[in-house]
Amino acid sequence: MGTGMKKMDQYRMRGGRPLYGSVEISGAKNAALAILAAAVMTDDVVVVDNVPDVRDVRVMIGALEDIGARIRKLDKHKLEICGAGITGLSVDYEYIKKIRASYYLLGALLGKYRKAEVALPGGCAIGSRPIDLHIKGFKALGAEVDIGYGLISASCEHLLGNHIYLDKVSVGATINILMAASLAKGKTIIENAAKEPHVVDVANLLNSMGANIRGAGTDVIRIVGVERLHGTEYSVIPDQIEAGTFMFAAAATHGDVLVKNVIPKHLEATTAKLLEAGCEIVEYDDAVRVVAKGRQLHPTQVTTLPYPGFPTDMQPQMTVLLGLAQGTSTVTESIWENRFKYVDELRRMGADIKVESNIAIICGVPTYTGARVSAPDLRAGAALVIAGLAAKDGETIVDDVYYIQRGYEEFDEKLRRLGAEIELCSSERTNKRLMKKVS
Ligand code: UD1
Repeated sequence: MGTGMKKMDQYRMRGGRPLYGSVEISGAKNAALAILAAAVMTDDVVVVDNVPDVRDVRVMIGALEDIGARIRKLDKHKLEICGAGITGLSVDYEYIKKIRASYYLLGALLGKYRKAEVALPGGCAIGSRPIDLHIKGFKALGAEVDIGYGLISASCEHLLGNHIYLDKVSVGATINILMAASLAKGKTIIENAAKEPHVVDVANLLNSMGANIRGAGTDVIRIVGVERLHGTEYSVIPDQIEAGTFMFAAAATHGDVLVKNVIPKHLEATTAKLLEAGCEIVEYDDAVRVVAKGRQLHPTQVTTLPYPGFPTDMQPQMTVLLGLAQGTSTVTESIWENRFKYVDELRRMGADIKVESNIAIICGVPTYTGARVSAPDLRAGAALVIAGLAAKDGETIVDDVYYIQRGYEEFDEKLRRLGAEIELCSSERTNKRLMKKVS
């Protein structure tokens, strides 16, 4: 499968250069993970294009192959998937511990085979990650759900449509229920559904496979179950978080960057906050230009919320940017309980940030200084790279880039093309050099 576990890799960079030029955004990782799971719900061939070539996707491919699906790479971003050969209905802990999104196989397999078993996901770096709403949904559709021996298993004779109210807006639960309900008998209504673009993307894929789903993108989704799904060709939407990350990198380095292959509508919350922070934004049909050259960054207030609110997956990047604004800002995290761990690392680069429960109070500093820091998770890792690129003085080393590579395709290459001085190295080499210096 070649997920290439190189935990020891690191990015080394010298900041202070504004980013200039244009960058092409890849397909959305979080949409692709769900879409790959949904693609095996038919025995026909499904071709999926614009799949980002990132580690989490490779892990999902491994999980699918492990249960017997056949996957052929047609090119770097195009996969041919066939779920006809699935024999195993049990997804191993090996996969779930690497990507929690492998729990999408619960909804997909339960819908198709009326039975599925997935290792129970634990917590993660950003907080406890309950799945009670997924379970509530499966039970409402008539499944028996058991937890034991580290597994969650769901099974039933018949899946029957039902009215399901989600107590909290959950992307994962909405998608999982959507998949199972597509092949249930009768009508399902999901109330208080997540409205994220990738929920809509999964619904569009399923509809093009013959499902009958309406209302995806609003908070009430109506599904009329069908007997079977068929093959299709589908292209994944652009990654709004990757796009946002490059927009913030442009802003933090006072550059001028055209972010291409995006759906500007999906970026509205990000764009609004960049405007408040004093950047100029030009919107095109499928691109957004961020101009921060020669501009002073202004402080502002942000709260993370479900879509169309400001995405929690952009929170660390936002904090890094506001750390350079002239004045005091606040960033409130309302989705995950423990998503400010990276702030300690950022402080080592000179940031002046205090965290009180779920609020970061940020006093802007004129610049960061280079330091050796460690990526605690995917998005915080990308945010620390932005900080390193903005640091006017000193070299920054971001360790554990493994996390960043989970969700960013060619992150360093794309940044280099914008003029950044960044390279991917093995940390063993750095350690050896440091040892030499010390002795
Ligand atoms: C997805 C994204 C993740 C993003 C998150 C919120 C993927 C692969 N991951 O995660 O990057 O940060 O959306 O936008 O798409 N909750 C419950 N019970 C449940 C499920 C969730 O209480 O059964 C709570 C969670 O603890 C959290 C909130 O609901 O506070 C949102 O979680 P959810 O939208 O489910 O996140 P994920 O789908 O896991």
